[in-house]
Amino acid sequence: MDIDLSSEVAVVTGVLGRLGPFWAEALLGAGARVVGLDLRTDRSPALEEALERHDRDRFILVKADITDRSDLERALSDCVSLFGTPTILVNNAGIDQPPNAGSESWRFGDIPGEVSAGIFEVNALGTLRSCQVFGSEMARRGRGSIINIGSLYAGTAPDPRLYEHLAQDPPFLKPPAYGMSKAGVCSLSRYLAALWGRQGIRVNALSPGGVLGGQDPRFRELFGARTPLGRMARTEELAGPLLFLASDLSSYVTGTELLVDGGYSCW
Ligand SMILES: NC(=O)c1ccc[n+]([C@@H]2O[C@H](COP(=O)([O-])OP(=O)(O)OC[C@H]3O[C@@H](n4cnc5c(N)ncnc54)[C@H](O)[C@@H]3O)[C@@H](O)[C@H]2O)c1
Repeated sequence: MDIDLSSEVAVVTGVLGRLGPFWAEALLGAGARVVGLDLRTDRSPALEEALERHDRDRFILVKADITDRSDLERALSDCVSLFGTPTILVNNAGIDQPPNAGSESWRFGDIPGEVSAGIFEVNALGTLRSCQVFGSEMARRGRGSIINIGSLYAGTAPDPRLYEHLAQDPPFLKPPAYGMSKAGVCSLSRYLAALWGRQGIRVNALSPGGVLGGQDPRFRELFGARTPLGRMARTEELAGPLLFLASDLSSYVTGTELLVDGGYSCW
């Protein structure tokens, strides 16, 4: 079955990050018009590359901070006036702190409250706010699919052994607020699936596992050994699951978490 999203208008938050351009490209490739949101409007090389392969007129980039309700309302208004009411919402913007991000590291007991709160503010409350603004409009119009990007760590603890080879003091710790906030994203997806199901809105979480990026070779090796499929995900392997949830292929799927983790969490 071909996936035809040519009558759909998709909003993708955090479109300038590592995964954002891939979500946008998958949706553009299926014919959707796409409104990308991010904190800046200087298009990244990865986004430019994705747009080169598609009809640029079907993409707009809007500056919006998902922690700011008025930004989101402005973005909705731009979306409606330029492309129409959104029918697909991909809540992808998030704060992660992988080892290669160069962020400060703390021992567990010393993690400042504002660091945890900042992660929550974007990942959990930003996603909630985006659903309040875009999702409510979709519900009012009676059609749509919301895909909240969760994480493997919404339901699985980061394995500290994956980071022990990194020579740093204090040792690298994945922030606890990351998984906590992503568990909140999955919970919100179930909440909204129940609230909006009868209004024709499906809401699901898509939780990637480890996606190949700038990780060091030892991490890749350890992560692969811990994963039934024996390796990390290639970014393009996320497109199929996204299109499945965005399209009518999943017309009876709501309130679930689609784990795309190579089986990492199954044992
Ligand atoms: N990359 C992975 O391996 C992986 C694995 C599991 C889950 N995820 C999740 O996928 C999503 C994207 O990950 P990524 O690797 O592309 O992250 P990234 O850090 O590369 O990109 C995140 C994007 O979100 C934007 N952003 C941050 N705060 C924002 C705000 N307040 N308002 C608007 N935009 C904001 C950033 O500017 C950035 O462009 C995140 O939610 C992340 O938690 C990623």
